[in-house]
Amino acid sequence: MRTELHFHLLPGVDDGPVDDQEAIDLARLAVEDGTSCVVATPHVRLVEVEALDGVTARLQAVLRDAGIGLELHSGGELAPDDVGSLDQSQLELLAHGPPGARWLLLEAPLVGGEGTLQAAARELRHRGFDVLIGHPERSPATSLPTLRLEVEQGAVLQLNASSVTGDHGMQAREKALSLVRTGLPFVLASDAHSPARPPQLTAAAAVLDAVGIEDGRVRAAVDLAPGAMLRDGLSAARTARGPGPHGGRSRLGQRERATPAVARSAQIFLDRGRGA
Ligand SMILES: [Fe+2]
Repeated sequence: MRTELHFHLLPGVDDGPVDDQEAIDLARLAVEDGTSCVVATPHVRLVEVEALDGVTARLQAVLRDAGIGLELHSGGELAPDDVGSLDQSQLELLAHGPPGARWLLLEAPLVGGEGTLQAAARELRHRGFDVLIGHPERSPATSLPTLRLEVEQGAVLQLNASSVTGDHGMQAREKALSLVRTGLPFVLASDAHSPARPPQLTAAAAVLDAVGIEDGRVRAAVDLAPGAMLRDGLSAARTARGPGPHGGRSRLGQRERATPAVARSAQIFLDRGRGA
């Protein structure tokens, strides 16, 4: 089951969809992108944490009435500054994974130094949670040595599909690809906000395929590890593997060949890289 772990889908609570109709349109795009399950992750500082389960359940009913088969889970995107202001029960409401392997989505800051990220990750581990580091490629100050240290302590990287496709600029794209090539455990998520900033896991997977990332790693990052992490904790990102070079063609490969828009996206990416 293809699962999105970072996705702004709740209407009217943050900078995601403005109303139910836009949430429906965005959910429909996720389904068209091949996704079956979305964790709704609003910016935590903008919401009432205790209300999120109810808000998510209401949207689930709205989607069901609209005929959209998308499973929703309640979650949230923590900024480093949020962590100290949340009590343990609030962190539990936002967390995923089984007892003993609970984890939270913590975004790497888009501005400022990496010290706040490290301090927040340290506090979350101290309070019993592993850390999924959101879009480190979009955080200029977050360095590879720091990310390696975080991974050594159990963290996993969540790269934005929109960075891989180049929607956040050349710097974010190159950093995303270099992080993939380090071999550090990672997953892709769309961090979608609206139909104007849509889900694009399929397009990003095609780009990774086009630049030569092993098919099994791509399929793990898009199709296998995210759902496994919800069930089993972040360690699943280290063990989920798709078929390797001799394991047969993955669904991603089939989808890429079958979808002209995705093949076009990958070609545009390659052309940009050549300076075309
Ligand atoms: Fe986000």
